[in-house]
Parts: sequence; structure tokens; C-alpha cells
Amino acid sequence: MNIYLTSLLFLIPIFLLLSRTRRYSKRIPPGSLGIPLIGQSLGFLRALHTNTAEKWLEDRIKKYGPVSKLSILGKPTVFIHGQAANKFVFHNNSSILANQQPESFAKILGDRNLLEVSAPDHKRIREALVSFLKPESLKQYVGKADEEIRKHIEIYWKGKQTVTVLPVMKILTFDIICSLLFASGKALRAQKLVKELVHEKRALLEKKGASPRQDLITSLVSMHDEDGKPVLIDKEIVQNVVLSLLGGYETSATVITFIIRQLANEPTVCAAVLQEQQEIAKSKASGESLTWEDLAKMKYTWRVVMETMRMFPPIFGGFRKALTDIEFDGYLIPKGWQILWVAPMTHMDNRIFPEPSKFNQSRFENQASIPPYSFIAFRGGSRMCPAYDFGRIEILITIHYLLTQYKWKLCGDNSFIRDPMPEPSQGLPIKVWPRDSHRFLLPSEK
Ligand SMILES: *[C@@H]1O[C@H](CO)[C@@H](O)[C@H](O)[C@H]1NC(C)=O
Ligand SMILES: *[C@@H]1O[C@H](CO)[C@@H](O)[C@H](O)[C@H]1NC(C)=O
Ligand SMILES: *[C@@H]1O[C@H](CO)[C@@H](O)[C@H](O)[C@H]1NC(C)=O
Repeated sequence: MNIYLTSLLFLIPIFLLLSRTRRYSKRIPPGSLGIPLIGQSLGFLRALHTNTAEKWLEDRIKKYGPVSKLSILGKPTVFIHGQAANKFVFHNNSSILANQQPESFAKILGDRNLLEVSAPDHKRIREALVSFLKPESLKQYVGKADEEIRKHIEIYWKGKQTVTVLPVMKILTFDIICSLLFASGKALRAQKLVKELVHEKRALLEKKGASPRQDLITSLVSMHDEDGKPVLIDKEIVQNVVLSLLGGYETSATVITFIIRQLANEPTVCAAVLQEQQEIAKSKASGESLTWEDLAKMKYTWRVVMETMRMFPPIFGGFRKALTDIEFDGYLIPKGWQILWVAPMTHMDNRIFPEPSKFNQSRFENQASIPPYSFIAFRGGSRMCPAYDFGRIEILITIHYLLTQYKWKLCGDNSFIRDPMPEPSQGLPIKVWPRDSHRFLLPSEK
């Protein structure tokens, strides 16, 4: 192609961008939108992958100040960070900031929370999901998760000398979520199958052949408002609710993997977690499953989970879309632009968490001492992760059985990358030894 034509083609988007932004130019955050379409995407993605994204962002802050503009995947974006920024993102009302993003954007940072619909749809779907995932309903799944985890250990840990943690944890958390969703434990991956299931469950329910609380799909299908109309239509159940929960399995697998890594790296912490778990184990009969009340006793363990998530947040950050011109920190974020938020900026801020690169579970002893919107591993505000309690159940039960039955030592490389979730570079291979204990027999072996 003619060189002039080529440069002309390149310049057109710049003119378009300039003419679009000139109206506001005074109050738009500093920074550069980079090469049209490509912008800073490559640099940012490379930094994420090599686990240097924090430094990449800090360099931006040094250069442009706390609020700056950049372009990610061809979209003009404003990067904001810090407590006030988190509050702005998580507390603000969804008629101003939308979560709605093409799948590819969400994937960049690991924010695969597919509840990505704008108000008022967001509110309705969220309410339906939250009412299902509230502790009272979840309690009855503790036994189910307990059974899945014990079965899993039988297959993937028992008699093994080495285990590669991340892949087996993905299998485990996927099986647990399937047993919750479908009451069958079958691994169903395709949206089509989920759709068929929704139809099937609705038909069963209409014939009064199923109890509304049998599993998540049946429960969502059976929800009706005061006028007797279904709260969610089938398509919504399939696209938003079911797939978002299925998407969550990788997040839990990542968190459990990093806890296993941390317990290997911190022998004192590991001994304290073990003691707490053995206390609980002692109070149980052989083969008896853990209960919701047992989980409430795992206070030290839960602080270790939180501290692990502070240092290694599974979700690096995410994007929001400005639905109108918004002001933040004296700058204008024009309508239609993206807002980029990231978790590590506050998690690793030494004014909020002194000596941030030191693992110290005591930080979470007094939760009230942690400034609001600074620990955002579960996001915050109205969009706080609806699956919080569900994740808590699977994480705590898994640690209980693994730690009371096995000892382990890392036998690979200790480094990790972000893809976009943090991933130990070799999937975390460990050497394992059984602790001597005879309590943990499956009911079938008694
Ligand atoms: C929400 O956005 C508006 C701008 O429209 C801003 O003035 C307000 O402070 C934000 N709310 C919070 C809680 O940050
Ligand atoms: C969001 O804020 C706008 C303006 O501040 C208000 O008109 C609207 O009712 C709010 N919506 C919700 C769902 O709170
Ligand atoms: C851990 O954190 C607690 C509470 O923030 C603090 O009092 C303690 O000194 C810290 N311990 C270490 C070893 O840094």
C-alpha cells in the first residue's frame, strides 16, 4: 500500500479521537492514548503476564499522577486507584457506572464475574442469586461439599508422592460447583446443556416432581414475584447466573492453590492452622462431615485465607464503563470511556498495610481497623461477590481435610505469572506425605 495512504489511515482515528476529546481537553486526566487501537494494551498485557503489572502501573503514576488516561484494546480508559477510587467504583450507582464489558476485557484482568448487566436487570438477577446463596440456603450444601472434597482426596491425593496442585484444585472446585448447580456432580461444560437442564428442571417442577430447593437451577426456576411471574427468564438463568457460578470455580481453585503454597512457605502459620483444624477434627466422630458451625470456628484459618488473598488477589482488577460524563478527583471521565480499577494498589499500600510484602494474618484480627474499600479481594459495595459464602465453604473444608491428612513441601519453582489469574509457573508441584490419622474414612469404607 502507498505509504501516504497508510499514514493517512493511521491518522484518521487520531483526528477522530482528538475531535471527540477536544471539547473536554482541559479536565481530562493526563496521559497518552498511545497508538490508535493498540494503545498501551501490549505493554500492559506483557506486564501482567510477567507479573510486573504493579510496577508498570507505578511507573504510570510517577509519570502522570494518580489519575491518568490510556487506551486498552482500542478503548479510551481512565486508570484510577486507591481507597477513594475503589469506593467510587464499587459504591457508585449502576446508572452511572456499568459493569457491562465485552468478554475479552473482563478476561484481561480475570474479572470474570459475569453478572455484567446494568441496573435494573443487575438488581433483579443479583437479588435472585443472593437469596439463593444466603447462608441459610448454603448451610445445606456444606455436607455435599464435604463429601465431594473427601472423594477428591481419595482419587487425587491418596497414595501419591507428588501432586500438582492447581490442575487438581480446578477439578475439585469444578466438581463442587456442578454438584451444587445440578445436584448430580456431572461435569457439564456447554451452555447448551445448561439450557436443556433449565427446561428439564422447569418441566419437572411444573409436574411437582422436584423440590424447589433441590439445587440452584431448580431453585432459580421456581422463584416468582408477587404477581406469580417468574423472577428470571430461562435465558437469564443460563447466561448470567449459571455461567457466572461456573466461572467462579477457577477463582476458588487459585485461592486454594496459593494457600497451599503459603502454608508450605510459612511453617509457623501452618502449625497454627493445623492446630485449629485438629481441634475441630477431635470434636467429630469418624467419618462425620463438617458443619456450618465448624466453619465458623475456623477463625485463624480464615484470616490466613484473607491475608493470602491480600497478597495474591485472584482478580487483578476490572473495567467499568461511564454511562454519563463523571467527575473523579477533579478530572472528567467522558461518557463511554472505560474505568480501570486494580486490587494490588491498595492491598500493597504501606500506609494501609504496613510492610505489605510480609505475610501477617494478624492484620485481619481486628477487621474494623482495616479502612473501608482498601481490601477488595471480594470487591465491595453492592457488587460484593455474591458467591463469597460459597467460596468460603469450599476453601475452608478443603484446607481442613488436606492439612489434617497430609504434610507437603514445594518441589518446583516458587514463582508465578498472571494469566490473568495468578498461576504458579509450574502449577505448583508438591511432595506429599500422609499424617497418621484414621478418622477420615468415606462412609462407604466404615
Ligand atoms: C458517584 O459518582 C458521582 C459522580 O457522578 C460522584 O460525585 C460521587 O462521589 C460518586 N460516589 C461515590 C460513593 O464515590
Ligand atoms: C442513581 O443515581 C441517580 C442520580 O444520582 C438517581 O437518579 C437514581 O435514582 C439512582 N439509581 C439507583 C438505582 O439508585
Ligand atoms: C502483624 O500485624 C499486627 C497487626 O497489624 C502487628 O501488630 C504486628 O506487629 C505484625 N507482626 C509482624 C511480625 O510484623
